[in-house]
Amino acid sequence: MDSSLYANPSLYDAQYATLTRDGVFYAARARKVDGPVLELAAGTGRISEAILEAGASLVGIERSRPMIAIARRRLARFGGRGRFVQADFRRFALGRTFALAVCGFNSLSHAAPAEFAAALARIRVHVKEGGALVFDLPNPGPRNPGPFLRERFFDERVGEACEVWETLEAESDPRLWERVWEYRWASGRRARETMRRWEYSEREVRAALAAAGFRVDALAGDFTGGAFGGASLRQVWKVSPVGAAVNPEIGHAIAREAA
Ligand SMILES: C[S@@+](CC[C@H](N)C(=O)[O-])C[C@H]1O[C@@H](n2cnc3c(N)ncnc32)[C@H](O)[C@@H]1O
Repeated sequence: MDSSLYANPSLYDAQYATLTRDGVFYAARARKVDGPVLELAAGTGRISEAILEAGASLVGIERSRPMIAIARRRLARFGGRGRFVQADFRRFALGRTFALAVCGFNSLSHAAPAEFAAALARIRVHVKEGGALVFDLPNPGPRNPGPFLRERFFDERVGEACEVWETLEAESDPRLWERVWEYRWASGRRARETMRRWEYSEREVRAALAAAGFRVDALAGDFTGGAFGGASLRQVWKVSPVGAAVNPEIGHAIAREAA
């Protein structure tokens, strides 16, 4: 399990209710393309909603049943313009291609090193020639073992402020971040969730993109197009399909798909 939070979508939505910057960014990209957008790891439809509100159609892939159930309910008002498929982005096959694929909010960092390039290759199969994949990832920085106050949000469900305290768990691989989030509501109630992610350096992401058959068009350090550097908190990538996949195993998968 990547995160116990993905089994608790109402808490997830309460925590991220005010996060809109990334949705605005992805919706702006969706406005520029014809045809439906493919969204990987659509979750409860937070970014999907911004894309649909921008007038685009969308197919969302999401693995967690509780998360996708919320997305379907929340975005039912868009009718056939928003469709959600419960699937794993490391091994899905929709049998069609898209001019734009997006994967927001660090979601690709749930793919372990052995699966990361393969997940990108799976996505590549679904991107039209001349199309693009746009995604964001965290940029690895210094580790804080915690506990520290990670974030604070107002939980509208209960009308109370809530703090999230983070502690890092054992580090079995320097790229693996296993965290425990302790939720502390103003009333004194507490809850605990876990978050498990892999963080990849710019160099590792470039190598995986090349192996999957993507060319890098742009890398920014934030959603406003700010220059990327070692101290950036984020990696925001725009990439497009190019030639054949370099990694022979991935190449075979792509050839099979195309046949
Ligand atoms: C940080 S959430 C982002 C959700 C949504 N895009 C948002 O921005 O609110 C990451 C999502 O990735 C999904 N996920 C993780 N691994 C996945 C996989 N292999 N295939 C499909 N979805 C996956 C999780 O279930 C979760 O909903």
